[in-house]
Amino acid sequence: MGFERNVLLGVNIDHVATLRQQRGTRYPEPIQAALVSEQSGADAITVHLREDRRHIQERDVEIISGCIQSRLNLEMAATSEMLAIARKIRPSDCCIVPEKRDELTTEGGLDAHASVEYLKDYCAELTESSIRVSLFIDADKRQIDAAYEIGAPVIEIHTGHYADATSPEQIKSELNRIVESAEYAHQLGIQVNAGHGLDYHNVLAIASVPVIRELNIGHSIVARAIFSGLGKAVSDMKKLICQIT
Ligand code: PXP
Repeated sequence: MGFERNVLLGVNIDHVATLRQQRGTRYPEPIQAALVSEQSGADAITVHLREDRRHIQERDVEIISGCIQSRLNLEMAATSEMLAIARKIRPSDCCIVPEKRDELTTEGGLDAHASVEYLKDYCAELTESSIRVSLFIDADKRQIDAAYEIGAPVIEIHTGHYADATSPEQIKSELNRIVESAEYAHQLGIQVNAGHGLDYHNVLAIASVPVIRELNIGHSIVARAIFSGLGKAVSDMKKLICQIT
């Protein structure tokens, strides 16, 4: 038994913090989830520090950053507050996401095309702090061209539209869009990651795209953990995306 292909798994543990914040308790602790995830095959720990602090707190990011042995991928909006936090904590990776206060979760990719000059300067500041920058964008060539112009070494393709598609035609068309965009970005020398809305049923088609390097998955893993335990939920997902039988 070996890796068919080592697709990297970033486990997003935001919803462990959602459960804690919902009651204002001391538990469950995101750091505990981070360490169990790492032990169970996660290649990175992903957290989204939102402006409204609805789940992950700055303290969580500091503790996780100080304790994990794998990479910390900090998702954040491109604001000056977040830039200061990232420069202080220095995660390995920062994924720039759009953020709206009233959204349930990140609802679409960043409009990098509309803010090339701003993001060029913003990402350069992160790069100067030795943080690898990723832009969370839709599967759209215009956005990929913008990411290239900005100088982002990594993009994360938003897979939410694929995950939400219901008819076989819709699913096929969303998947094609992702495959074409991923290959286009790869040819430009950009590392291609993907995430959002991926679960145990829909992930394989995305994990099978040869140029996709890493998947960031949160909600489905934390949801499955209620029934199977977090360690098993993570290791099952890792095996699935690497197609280990
Ligand atoms: N990638 C990004 C950039 C995200 O914003 C999120 C959600 O926070 C995810 C991946 C994980 O999405 P999900 O929780 O649907 O797996």
